[in-house]
Amino acid sequence: MLKVNDIDVYYGDLQALREVSIEVRQGEIVSVIGSNGAGKSTVLKTVSGMLRPRKGAISLNGKDISHAPSSRIVEQGISHVPEGRQIFPTMTVLENLEMGAQFPRTKQVQHETMEQVFGYFPRLKERLDQKAGTPT
Ligand SMILES: Nc1ncnc2c1ncn2[C@@H]1O[C@H](COP(=O)(O)OP(=O)(O)O)[C@@H](O)[C@H]1O
Ligand SMILES: [Mg+2]
Repeated sequence: MLKVNDIDVYYGDLQALREVSIEVRQGEIVSVIGSNGAGKSTVLKTVSGMLRPRKGAISLNGKDISHAPSSRIVEQGISHVPEGRQIFPTMTVLENLEMGAQFPRTKQVQHETMEQVFGYFPRLKERLDQKAGTPT
């Protein structure tokens, strides 16, 4: 279970989250809904270790991850997919896809996962060598 417990998060002096708590149990899908600027991305960035809570804690299966480095958090199965077109623009399409398979667990099934993705987005397969930030 992922447990976000009563967190306060700041950008410098600006408080973005106040006493936010969320629980995600095994197999559950939880949506966070709110207007622009409400703090949704801030919650996710704090879960993935890009920001730190000034108050409260985040735990995964009972283990505190509030201050673990992002690399450790990813190893434990938490992935953060940035919104919009936040890819690595100077890397190729293939290299961008490979970024999602950097851990043993995902590397093992990299080939199958890529084929599955090409099924959804066949254009990617045609453009594997293209720099991801270029339009054509
Ligand atoms: N890098 C930042 N520096 C300062 N304030 C930020 C930054 N990112 C977001 N904020 C502020 O934090 C609040 C929450 O933003 P955010 O989590 O991005 O909202 P949402 O994802 O729900 O649209 C907003 O008031 C926003 O202006
Ligand atoms: Mg957002």
